[in-house]
Amino acid sequence: MFHIGATVFAGFVAFLGILIAWLEVTPIERQREICRMAEAAPGKEEEFRSTNQTAFVVGYTGETGKVLVEELVNRNIFQKVVLIGRRELNYEGEKYNKLEQKVVDYEKLEDHADLFKGHSVGFCCLGTTRGKSGVEGFKRVDHDYVMTTAKLAKEGGCGHFVLQSSQGANKNSSFLYPRVKGEVEAECADVGFDKLSIFRPGVLMVDRKESRPGEWFARKVLAPLKYIAPTVMTCPVETVAKAMVNIVLSPSEKPSEIFENKAVHLLAKGKLC
Ligand SMILES: NC(=O)c1ccc[n+]([C@@H]2O[C@H](COP(=O)([O-])OP(=O)(O)OC[C@H]3O[C@@H](n4cnc5c(N)ncnc54)[C@H](OP(=O)(O)O)[C@@H]3O)[C@@H](O)[C@H]2O)c1
Ligand SMILES: *[C@@H]1O[C@H](CO)[C@@H](O)[C@H](O)[C@H]1NC(C)=O
Ligand SMILES: *[C@@H]1O[C@H](CO)[C@@H](O)[C@H](O)[C@H]1NC(C)=O
Repeated sequence: MFHIGATVFAGFVAFLGILIAWLEVTPIERQREICRMAEAAPGKEEEFRSTNQTAFVVGYTGETGKVLVEELVNRNIFQKVVLIGRRELNYEGEKYNKLEQKVVDYEKLEDHADLFKGHSVGFCCLGTTRGKSGVEGFKRVDHDYVMTTAKLAKEGGCGHFVLQSSQGANKNSSFLYPRVKGEVEAECADVGFDKLSIFRPGVLMVDRKESRPGEWFARKVLAPLKYIAPTVMTCPVETVAKAMVNIVLSPSEKPSEIFENKAVHLLAKGKLC
């Protein structure tokens, strides 16, 4: 009996391994275009910088948002970056001079419509979890706050909205998380931005201070994938941030595009192609 059990288990593990390896090596749709966009991005920084554009970031105190701000500061492509959030962070050093922090109450975001005026690009890394905020709280942040942000951005003249969604987003899902993510994606598409870039990273790889046992467990289990199949189910926050900046410099010819986890990796570093 033990033998049969062990054989079935070994077979299952081998199957899973092959599936993951296959997913890792299978090219995605538009792979070459996405790689070309990524490769072209660094060469466009200087020209972009000379156009004096500004951007805003919501969710900038979060794990992805923090890294995105760092990426924006280091690549220095905007004349000004307005950070809109519910609390302030400490930035020390000259390179942070182009950041402006604005503390707002998201329940009254409309009162701050002027903060969203005049930006060519808006980045959204907002989000909470059901564990932290409950079902209603989760919808409030991940749907309502994101949609209010998107609408204010559009009214303020934002031409390119860059939204962090999630792998598995699906408005038809019977599960809360993927459904809300899918609904927000669809509603953002209806807002009518000239350009909409939606990112669907997998499990975010980050050394999170906050305790989230489920996510922590997923990260530990999936950590070895970093070596054998880095683009299948996981995504370092640095990769999301790089990809977000690259898509601004090197926009897709499509007005609206969804980047699945692997595409996010490719967009961050074209040399994978
Ligand atoms: N965790 C994953 O593995 C994973 C995978 C794929 C996609 N995603 C999605 O990616 C996005 C970013 O994830 P993350 O882990 O980087 O985010 P995070 O660390 O949880 O940060 C979320 C951001 O949203 C802000 N926020 C949350 N509740 C708020 C409220 N009530 N009012 C105002 N601001 C609020 C936070 O502000 P404070 O700092 O003040 O709390 C923070 O800036 C989320 O939409 C998430 O669902 C996550
Ligand atoms: C951008 O700002 C610089 C310095 O203020 C100015 O010289 C330049 O003409 C501006 N460029 C555009 C496209 O507005
Ligand atoms: C959701 O359901 C609609 C109607 O059945 C269908 O047309 C659409 O393709 C589905 N979308 C997804 C993401 O599954």
